[in-house]
Amino acid sequence: MSGHGDPIPMTSRKSGPLTGVAEVPGDKSISHRALILGAMAVGETRVTGLLEGEDVLGTAQAMRDFGAEVTRHGDGEWSIHGVGVGGFMEPEDVIDCGNAGTGVRLIMGCMATSPITVTFTGDASLRSRPMGRITDPIGLFGAAAYGRTGGRLPMTIVGARDPMPVRYTVPMPSAQVKSAVLLAGLNVPGETVVIEKEATRDHTERMLVGFGADLTVEDGDEGRVITLKGQPELKPQTIAVPRDPSSAAFPVCAALITPGSDVLVPNIGLNPTRAGLFTTLREMGADLVYENEREEGGEPVADLRARFSPDMKGVRVPEERAASMIDEYPVLSVVAAFAQGKTEMVGVKELRVKESDRIDAMARGLEANGVTVEEGEDFMTVHGLGPEGVPGGGTAKAQLDHRIAMSFMVLGMAAQAPVSVDDGAPIATSFPIFEPLMSGLGAQIERSEA
Ligand code: S3P
Repeated sequence: MSGHGDPIPMTSRKSGPLTGVAEVPGDKSISHRALILGAMAVGETRVTGLLEGEDVLGTAQAMRDFGAEVTRHGDGEWSIHGVGVGGFMEPEDVIDCGNAGTGVRLIMGCMATSPITVTFTGDASLRSRPMGRITDPIGLFGAAAYGRTGGRLPMTIVGARDPMPVRYTVPMPSAQVKSAVLLAGLNVPGETVVIEKEATRDHTERMLVGFGADLTVEDGDEGRVITLKGQPELKPQTIAVPRDPSSAAFPVCAALITPGSDVLVPNIGLNPTRAGLFTTLREMGADLVYENEREEGGEPVADLRARFSPDMKGVRVPEERAASMIDEYPVLSVVAAFAQGKTEMVGVKELRVKESDRIDAMARGLEANGVTVEEGEDFMTVHGLGPEGVPGGGTAKAQLDHRIAMSFMVLGMAAQAPVSVDDGAPIATSFPIFEPLMSGLGAQIERSEA
């Protein structure tokens, strides 16, 4: 898990109209949570639509290593026989979370209040990412962490023997940190309170309520105050995972910039804490329509219809929208290159600590393809060249980041000259069917010689 094998260089060429139906995979955030909460319930949880990408498969294996029975029955169909809150066994070996920040951070949270010792590692990207944001709050519960300098993996967590409830204000907008604290709070007597100043994706809260936990959310002066009563018996659930809006972003954005395109992306989860990209695209003048809007499993869902949009204009994306589209800035910066005028993305310093430094990765890759970008610690501005104006012809470094690799493949679909990435292997972490799906719509993506 902790490597991706040989790099897979890929090239995307200017394509004809993209047309057809794009059935994107299940939501990554919800898939991780379904496996983890399933493992902490007593009895059998059934899941359909699970994302079978490397990140989520790593979490499935980790839950087995903690003692849960996790079984695949068919495409996206899984069951988890949970061990109950407080029932985790100590894994016999190191837990390798591969590329998955969400996997490692949520799992650190859920084991931190059990009397077990676990060592975590991951690939070169994950080993460079900060874990202090998790070890600080789990330390308040009584867990201890021993990692490399700067709080990096590999890292050993010694779970708290007599955990204390915690009241914690999350210092940065991070659903991973919020979720880790809530999952740790499950095995603690009394009430754990998590406060977030800005709302981030709320799948953990929704799913905890679904599993029968006593959890309340109040909006107060401090922000969103989430209160969880510890040591519940979680009841197994049947979970239909909606399709991932963060994956839908790629065929949607590709259709908007590729002349003649008309693509339908059905059944996309449109939880308001995730849908900021689509709001922004519509503000830019994208021909993006929500069809068949409905509710499924407590989450808003719609079919997205995206058509070529030659008249898009640059916008300033408001800072308060950042959390609801944090994973979509790379592909937005590609769309921005084909709009008229500049697109300003502000308050986005969290992008610097994702699978790669996404501001740096996008700025360097766009520049290599003839697009001007200004950047600072927490902002990025892309100067649009209009629908026909992006030269392309460059090679971007994916930096072990699936969303960087996919974004540059989208750029190549409408640029004048082909666009390459040095390594598309990480795409398998979140969107293993990206190449056949995009090719099925008419895109021309090739794997080139290493
Ligand atoms: C995620 C939260 C976000 C996001 C990541 C998935 C989650 O990370 O970037 O891809 O499932 O909770 P942060 O919590 O670090 O913002």
